[in-house]
Amino acid sequence: MIGKLNHVAIVVPDLGAGANQYRDLFGAQVSEPVEMPEHGVTTVFVNLPNTKIELLHPFGPQSPIKKFLENNPSGAIHHLCYEVVDIGLAADKLRAEGMRILGDGKPKIGAHGKPVLFLHPKDALGTLIELEQI
Ligand code: CO
Repeated sequence: MIGKLNHVAIVVPDLGAGANQYRDLFGAQVSEPVEMPEHGVTTVFVNLPNTKIELLHPFGPQSPIKKFLENNPSGAIHHLCYEVVDIGLAADKLRAEGMRILGDGKPKIGAHGKPVLFLHPKDALGTLIELEQI
């Protein structure tokens, strides 16, 4: 069911410092910060040959990653995103197996303009997993 690893998301305390590290020290191709108020994050996209890294920082007081950063003040891996062909089918199958889907369980439009949903980390080996329909 799952396909490619689309991205790994890392919540960072300082986006500029994170972008500098990936660009200047690691030699990666790094975007300018992109504000996504509807998702409560500002994102720097790091393009690697086989996947992407997304550096995330809270945007606004209602940010869904605010608490995560408070609990992980030096930054930490936040989620993995796997690609699926049909997100509705994937959700139905996982739900039928007892896996919890966060929120109302319906796909939302994610940071890349494509339908996404998140699986409960307690049902997924302690990892927050995002599924993105490609
Ligand atoms: Co993501």
